[in-house]
Amino acid sequence: MAIVSSTSGRKPPRRPEALVDPQSAPEEVVSRPEEKLRPQRLDDYIGQSELKQVLGIAVEAALGRGDALDHVLLYGPPGLGKTTMAMVLAEEMGVQCKVTSAPALERPRDIVGLLVNLQPRDLLFIDEIHRLSRVAEELLYPAMEDRRLDLTVGKGSTARTRSLDLPTFTLVGATTRAGSLSSPLRDRFGLIQRLEFYGQDDLEAIVERTAGLIGVTLTPEALSSIAASCRGTPRIANRLLRRVRDVASVRGSGVSAGAIDQALVGEALSLHRVDHRGLDASDRRLLQLLIDHHGGGPVGLETLAAALGDDPVTLETVVEPFLLQQGLLMRTPRGRMVTDAARSHLAEAA
Ligand code: ADE
Repeated sequence: MAIVSSTSGRKPPRRPEALVDPQSAPEEVVSRPEEKLRPQRLDDYIGQSELKQVLGIAVEAALGRGDALDHVLLYGPPGLGKTTMAMVLAEEMGVQCKVTSAPALERPRDIVGLLVNLQPRDLLFIDEIHRLSRVAEELLYPAMEDRRLDLTVGKGSTARTRSLDLPTFTLVGATTRAGSLSSPLRDRFGLIQRLEFYGQDDLEAIVERTAGLIGVTLTPEALSSIAASCRGTPRIANRLLRRVRDVASVRGSGVSAGAIDQALVGEALSLHRVDHRGLDASDRRLLQLLIDHHGGGPVGLETLAAALGDDPVTLETVVEPFLLQQGLLMRTPRGRMVTDAARSHLAEAA
């Protein structure tokens, strides 16, 4: 991407790990296997072209002014790359990325500790930002707007407010529930961007990239089959790839035996109960329940969640978005309804 590569002559980030001092809770130590697979720069980040364009321009402009990037809110279903994008932005800006999540910022001192330790232009990533406590949120308002921390020192009649200047910094907030953010918080973000489900071509490119990184070779059909079965979600694609690799190594047809083929992918997918359209057992259970017990709907979210033994928030933010995007489920004012496409898919899959 031209916008981005024109910035590549800059100094590398001060701390290349994009994090993290393991002693200093409430930041997280990021050490899951997918960490090694994350793209580092905007040019390596596949898909989300509109998002990359918008953020690429914002990064280049901020670098040109020698300023911090404006505060960014990223929202959308889980697994689409919000955390990855935050780390990419830090890398592009040549700054440190501190990663935390709202539930870890329960006490005022948690957020104060993070803010006072920021270096100029650093990026602070807060995941699940809709879950911030009221106190944490109120500390963030002046910090985001005026780079100022208003602290109350002392108690009762001796309580005083003291203000501390903060360095310029960028807050990147991520949420699966943009609607649950208070408007004062939402309004303080200069960039508010939605991440979309990925299309087949981008997912194939992501699986190919990850396969290369973990030393797995797939036939084009096998690649395409994984990409079609991951609910439009890179995190699921990479997870399926690892499960396919497991099956390949147990069957003795692993990396050394040549390319993994579609039959092997099919075996891994059916082992994990993922169908050719990428629906998993919970997706099918939801659709089947609507058909078998409610004549296809409409059914309210709470009733559906109770019947499935799931919680309504997970249903609404994790399970439903892909079904809605695929045209298998509809949200109506009277509740959820299955579509004809869902009926045909389930009949086919049975
Ligand atoms: N791995 C997971 N998501 C990715 C993306 N969007 N681009 C490249 N690699 C990825």
